[in-house]
Amino acid sequence: MTEKILVCAAWPYANGLLHLGHVAGSYLPADIFARYHRAKGNDVLMVSGSDMHGTPITIKAEQENKTPLEVATYYHRKFLESWQKLGISFDLFTHTETENHAAVTGDIFLKLLDKGYIYNDVMQQPYCPTCVRFLPDRYVEGVCPLCKHPQARGDQCDECGHPMDPTELTLARCRICGSAPEFRQSEHFFLKLSAFQDRLTGWVKEQGHWRANVRNFTLGYLEEGLKDRAITRDIDWGIPLPVNGYPDKRIYVWFEAVIGYLSASKEWARSSSDPEKWRAFWQGDAKTYYFIGKDNIPFHTIIWPAMLMGYQDLNLPYDVPANEWMTIESGKFSKSKNWAIWVPDFLSRYEADPLRYAIAINMPETSDADFSWREFFRRNNDELVATYGNLAHRVLTFVYRNFDGKVPPAAGNVPGADELEKSTAAALGEVGELISRCNFKLALKRAMALAAETNRFLDEKSPWKVIKTDRAAAAGALYAALNTICNLRTMLYPFLPFSSQKLHHYLGLAGHSEDGGWQLSRLEPGQKLNEPQPLFTKLDEKLAEEETRRLGEGR
Ligand code: MF3
Ligand code: ZN
Repeated sequence: MTEKILVCAAWPYANGLLHLGHVAGSYLPADIFARYHRAKGNDVLMVSGSDMHGTPITIKAEQENKTPLEVATYYHRKFLESWQKLGISFDLFTHTETENHAAVTGDIFLKLLDKGYIYNDVMQQPYCPTCVRFLPDRYVEGVCPLCKHPQARGDQCDECGHPMDPTELTLARCRICGSAPEFRQSEHFFLKLSAFQDRLTGWVKEQGHWRANVRNFTLGYLEEGLKDRAITRDIDWGIPLPVNGYPDKRIYVWFEAVIGYLSASKEWARSSSDPEKWRAFWQGDAKTYYFIGKDNIPFHTIIWPAMLMGYQDLNLPYDVPANEWMTIESGKFSKSKNWAIWVPDFLSRYEADPLRYAIAINMPETSDADFSWREFFRRNNDELVATYGNLAHRVLTFVYRNFDGKVPPAAGNVPGADELEKSTAAALGEVGELISRCNFKLALKRAMALAAETNRFLDEKSPWKVIKTDRAAAAGALYAALNTICNLRTMLYPFLPFSSQKLHHYLGLAGHSEDGGWQLSRLEPGQKLNEPQPLFTKLDEKLAEEETRRLGEGR
């Protein structure tokens, strides 16, 4: 049966370039998952977009003396370029400044207002007497009441993940001028999260298939007791309120950003033949997956589900496979220290597939993982090139030269060939199963184990020597190996789409690597091959030192 799979990836703030943390946290896992399901023949919709509103954007704009729209548009274009080069296969990557997004947000706001899940009230809002303005979210910093981190922001503590209300901060100060803010009364709208406490708790308890870290974090959060949250801000950049009388307020960026998943699905449907097509991914037995970093967990397991429960008729998340952090050379990502590897910079010197490989094989699924340049070079050379690239290349070139550029005959009676084929079939099934359960790291390891097994088979058969005395036996062994390589192309496609496509071409196959579906392929003996080229290139490990030195430079 064809399944409907909605693949949602977190909306990156359009205030800076993408770095490896973004790729490891959400976009690569989302892409692997989407590619697998498409290859399998399921209906997939993969959406996200640039998060263009809120103080992350206005602060950047002030620093650069640009308008928020200029800043957001610039980075949005950069994101689109990066997705293309990385092979992140969105069906739609939009942004939050579209009319459609404002309309969908307005609809949800009004419906929740109508049902009493949104209400207005007054609240204490930080106001800087020196700057003569209210200070939204990130314009206030202070000490986190929970973990005592000294630089927690007014919207969230990056250290412990606690979503903040600015009034909770101790020793609060204005980010612009450093003075202590006053608290003044301001009218705002609130999301009545408290009304969903029991329903959310019951629902989360049922999600036995969630990752333990996600489930435990969410349950811990619920145990603290849900408080209603202000969902409007005194700021002039963002989505205006869909009710009259509040010209100086905008909808809180987090409230509307999560709605992006729905508005993007609607935008995608509208640009197709059937504007109602989004329903198939939001209602009925469609399954929704949210690929996010761990700092975004409460917004996707509590706030967004509460909004969906209040709105009704739309599916709740099926899974929220949040990843932990990817550190760089053992250090936590830091924009201010320039402790990051930026995607455009990386891709100006290296290919996408080796990066995808290095991240996927060490994905921070259940604990933090570290990216180091030395490991990247080592994995490229000793694993990707040595185990998989060389396997494909030596078999393809040898066959191409010795069998007239064609797939060799599948001579029967090659001991071990049947076992290799059985192993291949088993691996294909297991890799698919692991991907479908969001165990990407293990899935990739399993596929690489099959490549290693094929190498051992060839070492034992030595067709390069045997061909001199027994051409049929050599042909049979090469056929078996080539066939497994053809299936490695299938199972590695979600991870390494560019090289799978190259391999597909060298194997003499037309169209796209994923067209054959997620099933065992058998090459036709006698089929014409195309002249093979290496799938990957060996890198000079000496460069690792130079690359490492760049970290933290030029802040
Ligand atoms: N822009 C937010 C961040 O970078 C993520 C928003 S995810 C969303 O942390 F889905 F809620 F939009
Ligand atoms: Zn904290």
